[in-house]
Amino acid sequence: MERRDFGEEFRWGVAVSAYQIEGAHDADGKGHSIWDIFTNKKGNVLNEHTGNTACDFYNRYNQDISLLKELNIPNFRFSLSWPRIFPSGHFYVNRKGIDFYDRLIDCCLSQGIEPWVTLYHWDLPHELELMGGWTNRDILYWFGDYAELCAKHFGDRVKKWMVLNEPMVFTGAGYFLGIHAPGKRGMKNFIPAMHHATLAMGEGGRRLREFVKDAEIGTTFSCSHIEPVSQKDKDIRAAIRVDALLNRLYIEPILGLGYPQELRKPLLNVEKYIKPNDESNMPFDFDFIGIQNYTREIVKYSWWTPYLQASIVGAKERKVPHTLMKWEVYPEAIYQMLKKFQAYTNIKKLMVTENGAAFNDVVFDGKVQDSQRLLFIQDNIRQVLRAKKEGVNVQGYFIWTLTDNFEWAEGFHPRFGIVHVDFHSQKRTIKESGLWYKDFLSYM
Ligand code: FCB
Repeated sequence: MERRDFGEEFRWGVAVSAYQIEGAHDADGKGHSIWDIFTNKKGNVLNEHTGNTACDFYNRYNQDISLLKELNIPNFRFSLSWPRIFPSGHFYVNRKGIDFYDRLIDCCLSQGIEPWVTLYHWDLPHELELMGGWTNRDILYWFGDYAELCAKHFGDRVKKWMVLNEPMVFTGAGYFLGIHAPGKRGMKNFIPAMHHATLAMGEGGRRLREFVKDAEIGTTFSCSHIEPVSQKDKDIRAAIRVDALLNRLYIEPILGLGYPQELRKPLLNVEKYIKPNDESNMPFDFDFIGIQNYTREIVKYSWWTPYLQASIVGAKERKVPHTLMKWEVYPEAIYQMLKKFQAYTNIKKLMVTENGAAFNDVVFDGKVQDSQRLLFIQDNIRQVLRAKKEGVNVQGYFIWTLTDNFEWAEGFHPRFGIVHVDFHSQKRTIKESGLWYKDFLSYM
């Protein structure tokens, strides 16, 4: 397998997000995000880790962009921290926050690296959360104004945009399960948050379209290949419901298909939040859809699981190879997901905007032999090529992630980077997987 098998137009890159790497959580006028608040509460994050310093990317971006250059990586996906730009979420703009992203964007461009910007990768301004965050319909105005400011200010140099990162994860984990910020639980929080996040994709997309000339606009979705544990009817139906929740809930309304029928019963309450014109405002004509796949899930019927009557049979229980996140290593999942999304007739183009794996990495003799990650990435890229050869219009692949970083509720424990970070000294060491990517990208 070589780079040229994918064609010259294919975009290769790495992906990161603001809260996971920047640190500088209160520098230069930045406001608190919900993650600043969540991580500082005992018991929320493994080992009480916080992103207060993380990879100190705020101060070391120059060095990390040089690292990208050294690794021959031509595309860099990062997110903007909303509370760095609007400390309280709206009205007052923090000039120094804008300056930081100006420096970062200019630094990428001066090194010949194309910036791919995500507007929202989970770090909501805390002040907005105090007013209900994603459960408050006013989020559409707050988010729209934030999107518009970013479009107007950075749009002369940034042409690749993504509106939201994985709405299913930030609403599911943050507003239903309470295991991510802001730590809210239950259907009464999840349903309005879900509906507003759905509308926010179109809202953000329209602002970008209006204010950025020649923009390529996308948004990203988490997705997992779903299989029933057996061929019994009740397991098959359970798998269909989980697939609707994890893979279809957010993409179908923006494609004009509405919320999936299979979820009508658990979701019925959504009617209460739907206002006139919502149905027509949900669809947006995205230039690309970002898919982010890490694994597959095996599903069984379970009558005691509320709403869904379905549960997941974990990789450990099935005794199959898995990563530090307990996610099964199953590279064919990415092929299955590309095929599944390609089957929607009105998706113009697909990009793999995240894919990667966490393992236990150690620096030994100045080197990191992360052969499991290397194999994972190679096998996944091979599956992308397989889909592409079968006619799937997939045009890019971004590894999650450049440097080891703050992995949300798991803290710094799972290392996903192709570059190792010593979080005491901030020393970067390119792993074997990073050296392979560099080599792979060097021949066309
Ligand atoms: C995705 C997130 C990303 C990272 C990876 C491992 O769900 O978008 O921030 O945490 O998982």
